[in-house]
Amino acid sequence: MKIIKVKDSIKGSEKSFDIIKDFLGNNMSVIGLATGSTQLQLYKRIIESDLDFSNTISINLDEYIGLAKENKQSYHYYMNENLFQYKKFKKSYIPNGDNKEELELERYNNIINDNKIDLQLLGLGENGHIGFNEPGTSFKSKTNKVKLTKSTLDANKRFFDENEIMPKYAYSMGIGSILSAKTILIIAYGINKADAVKKMIEGPIDESVPASSLQTHKDVIIIIDEAAASKLN
Ligand code: GLP
Repeated sequence: MKIIKVKDSIKGSEKSFDIIKDFLGNNMSVIGLATGSTQLQLYKRIIESDLDFSNTISINLDEYIGLAKENKQSYHYYMNENLFQYKKFKKSYIPNGDNKEELELERYNNIINDNKIDLQLLGLGENGHIGFNEPGTSFKSKTNKVKLTKSTLDANKRFFDENEIMPKYAYSMGIGSILSAKTILIIAYGINKADAVKKMIEGPIDESVPASSLQTHKDVIIIIDEAAASKLN
């Protein structure tokens, strides 16, 4: 694991931007994209740049089940709002939260099999989840339907208005699929992520901490700010 410690999220977004720029310069054909607040500054930086993704396919990690694509809380909406309306990709895939489980899992696994991910971008859940793969998920898992844990519901409810019902389930690319990416870039900022960062890097490799699976991958880059790194030995 290559650990890059930065002062704050502004420096972190510069670093992650540079990495993506290098990969594009080396003809990256498929990038795995993530949502969440962690990626917002990075996407802003990309929008302001002249980076060209017209020859790159994007595959997103996850989507809530039961939210229409137009719903402001859906990850479809997030991606359009924060990246896709400004940057054209060759083709973009996001799990369809409106599709029947059996069909959607097969459809998304086929997409991942047909498009080997060169660089997978990840955020980190406070409970150590990656994508929406909650503690206990098999490290061999493919795309799956996830029941969101209380930790995740609590962490993400800030995005929902009081009168909006937050979905309890999501589709997520599996941990096995994430680990099949050639390179993984995981980013975490803030004190809320410090415990998960410690377990990801220093803890035992165990399915109770999905991010600890990254210790088994040969090419992982971790970008963390001082607060997120504060519990590391
Ligand atoms: C969410 C998403 C993840 C994201 C993570 C961190 O639940 N499903 O893909 O990486 O949790 O979110 P944030 O960056 O907002 O802290």
